[in-house]
Amino acid sequence: MHDPRVHHGYALYLGLLRRTQPNFLNYVCALNGHYPVPIEKEFSYCELGCGFGVTTNGLAQLFPQGQFTGIDFNEKHIDAAHELAEESGISNVDFKALDFNELAAANLPQYDFIVLHGVYSWVDPETRDNIRKFLRANLKEDGVAYVSYDCLPGWAALAPLRDVVLTHTAAMTTDDTMKAQAGLDYLDFMASNNAAFFTDNPPAKEFLAEIKTKDIRYVAHEMFVAFSKPYYFHQVATEFRSAGLSYSGSALLHLNFIDLAVPAEFREILLKATSRNEFESRGDFIRNQRFRQDVFKNSRKTMDEEEQLEALSKIVFGTICTAVEFQTSAVFGDVELNYGGDLFANLIELLSGTPKSAAELAEMDEFKAYPLDLIIDGIKFLSAGKQLVPMAADAKARSDQDTEADRYILPNAFNIQLLKRWLLKQDAVVMMAPRAGIGIEVSMADALFALCLVEANREEVPNWVFQRLLESGQQMVFGEGSESEAIAVAVEKFRETRLPKFLELGILEPVE
Ligand SMILES: C[S@@+](CC[C@H](N)C(=O)[O-])C[C@H]1O[C@@H](n2cnc3c(N)ncnc32)[C@H](O)[C@@H]1O
Repeated sequence: MHDPRVHHGYALYLGLLRRTQPNFLNYVCALNGHYPVPIEKEFSYCELGCGFGVTTNGLAQLFPQGQFTGIDFNEKHIDAAHELAEESGISNVDFKALDFNELAAANLPQYDFIVLHGVYSWVDPETRDNIRKFLRANLKEDGVAYVSYDCLPGWAALAPLRDVVLTHTAAMTTDDTMKAQAGLDYLDFMASNNAAFFTDNPPAKEFLAEIKTKDIRYVAHEMFVAFSKPYYFHQVATEFRSAGLSYSGSALLHLNFIDLAVPAEFREILLKATSRNEFESRGDFIRNQRFRQDVFKNSRKTMDEEEQLEALSKIVFGTICTAVEFQTSAVFGDVELNYGGDLFANLIELLSGTPKSAAELAEMDEFKAYPLDLIIDGIKFLSAGKQLVPMAADAKARSDQDTEADRYILPNAFNIQLLKRWLLKQDAVVMMAPRAGIGIEVSMADALFALCLVEANREEVPNWVFQRLLESGQQMVFGEGSESEAIAVAVEKFRETRLPKFLELGILEPVE
């Protein structure tokens, strides 16, 4: 599914960080029988179209052993990215103001990872060509590439909306956001009066309802970017093959598992696919897929089953929430999965405490009854639901989980910079947990509470939250009763449910 939040520069980087993390990309490779890139020692990573550099900087901080490069032709973006690196004290990163069409002449080195998010569907054919030339020349052998794009058939019923808005607003001399509003109003008129396009295409009506809830700047970007083209998977796979790359799997993890990729009635037809190409294309049709996040590998070498089991058994996983908060079901399009039964319950309980690998779990009494491959399957299904994620190999739970402290600190300079820039300006932020080697998505309310726990003593926190909201002019609905009562209840709930995880991950630390 298209995740609009991660789509463009001004605010929107959520989710992206997780799916373009080197260890996450390695997990996708391992799931699909490809060798992971060794990242314990030095490695190199390049993001094409890095925007404000939030992801590139964040990853550079999480992986100090890596060397990171962000490329974007927008000098303002590059300046902001440099500034963010400097103010956060991140030095293993480099940003270059370059057009993708200048990559060949730029004399850049080879990289272990090259990622491009929110780029490929939005550049013209010549630029796409040059991106592929760069991949061919600058992705190391055995390296990994990530590309996201609007895809077909999901976009087929939606693309005309954009065309209609472009035509309707072509003669307007206002700026893009005003044009976008005029375009939405026009579409709204058409939909509410049952123009046949909408009655014949119910998903277009749903899409309109969805984009009407978005920030108008996002809508303007979606409507008026210079070039926008959805592709079939097979088109991108063929293009990437011409650059020497083979498809490995999807960064939308559930798409790698047949049980979650499509509803039960379609599994047999999917199993009959004679190639990965056919498998993916059938799946996209069944799901009416609108957005893809594909991982490619510069190698045709594959692991045998034993090697793959070993590789998967060594990956350390931990949860981004406490066991109490862990949602015991997950929805993947038309497929719902319930994490019932002892295996899932044990995995949730144990991995919510200290991150562990399947190999470590297999040694524990709780898992004596399960063969290793079953433990790995349990982990796979849980990881598809996003609450269980690959973590740094030495991620350990902390002992000083003092949820009753009077005051806390945010030990990470990058998190402080992110809050300085984005607090209360979007729905959520990413916060780094370097010890666990992950960035996690934090709702804006939780980010606000975390900051107020830093800025105010315990009894002052609700009042501080209230003041911050007042100053920002933002409204948040926390619950029943007066606003200040509701805030006090919400802050207490944060202390009970989220704070233990924030402490464990090292996002907050108690002041002694
Ligand atoms: C949609 S944004 C993605 C930003 C970031 N990857 C993210 O997901 O948050 C696309 C970025 O690509 C950059 N871009 C687009 N075309 C480019 C080109 N031809 N050369 C260099 N950068 C380009 C834009 O300036 C923009 O920052």
